Amino acid sequence: MNEPLVLGIESSCDETGVGIVRGRELLANEVASSVDLHVRFGGVVPEVASRAHLSAMVPALERAVAAADIDLRQLDAVAVTAGPGLMGALLVGISSAKALATYLNKPLYGVNHLVGHVAVDLLEDGELPMPSVALLVSGGHTSLLHVTDMTRSITEVGSTIDDAAGEAYDKVARLLGLAYPGGPVIDKLAADGDPGAIAFPRGLTARRDMEQHRFDFSFSGLKTAVARWVELRRLEGKDIPVADVCASFQEAVCDVLTRKAVDAARHFDVDTMLLGGGVAANSRLRTLLEERTAAVGIELRRPRPALCTDNGAMIAAIGSEVVRAGVAPSSLDFSANPGLPV
Ligand code: KG4
Ligand code: ZN
Repeated sequence: MNEPLVLGIESSCDETGVGIVRGRELLANEVASSVDLHVRFGGVVPEVASRAHLSAMVPALERAVAAADIDLRQLDAVAVTAGPGLMGALLVGISSAKALATYLNKPLYGVNHLVGHVAVDLLEDGELPMPSVALLVSGGHTSLLHVTDMTRSITEVGSTIDDAAGEAYDKVARLLGLAYPGGPVIDKLAADGDPGAIAFPRGLTARRDMEQHRFDFSFSGLKTAVARWVELRRLEGKDIPVADVCASFQEAVCDVLTRKAVDAARHFDVDTMLLGGGVAANSRLRTLLEERTAAVGIELRRPRPALCTDNGAMIAAIGSEVVRAGVAPSSLDFSANPGLPV
């Protein structure tokens, strides 16, 4: 088999994704998001997400097959997110993938969602130089990965000890009375604010914290600091300078993310860094990371936004890599693992 034709299914959070690749060539990437259903709750409701996956899965599959112009019987393998993610949501994708693989009599691969975020870059930029460091930032995860072999050796060297960065954006947006998801809204408002207006804390960057948590992140203290600051202003009867709060909060998040990512890249002596996840769309994060990686001669790779957010192509991409590497398929009785480590 030269270039395997692989279909990937993603359903770990609120995006139902079906992607199809041939080797490292992207043939289809169909995504249906249930984000609109979660708006009134101000966050993803697991039960609502699971039900939405159930109704969106087969139509997404049909659209992907039509877009790729393939016959399902031509597939070499089916890949699906086994975790991490929301239990009920993962189960919808896994059940669909098992049914498809069994019906077609094709090998099935349960893969790691975070590794998918790394592998998707292969579709855009080709071979990833090894070793590399990946910074994955979304509403569900904030991780620094040391990648030495795409299919065999990825180590999580840092992660959030509380809120994910995107989650912090969503929570701060909520306390400012802004719409969900908060990331894009804060990003936009911050453009008119002063990032130096308010000195919000940089989580886990004090010397003592760095000794214990060098590449780990913490954003819940920052969220509380913003809440306190806003509350105090309200008690004092003053207006809330929303743009300045957004810009100062965003600066604190992006400063820590980029500082720790560059620190990890230097520590592991890598020449390439990959940025992925929904928060990779953030304008300040992109600029600051570009500046700070360029300053130390590190090449920054950032797949286009549609491939950074959760999607099926990233799962097909890692599926294709494991098939090429000759990894044995998963047995059909595997289940979802909400806390699956990389
Ligand atoms: O990867 P994603 O679509 O889904 C998961 O959470 O897995 O990421 C969504 C998250 C949300 O928290 C959203 O607020 C955040 O990414 N986000 C942003 C931006 N666009 C999306 N955060 C900051 N700036 C943005 N421009
Ligand atoms: Zn993700």
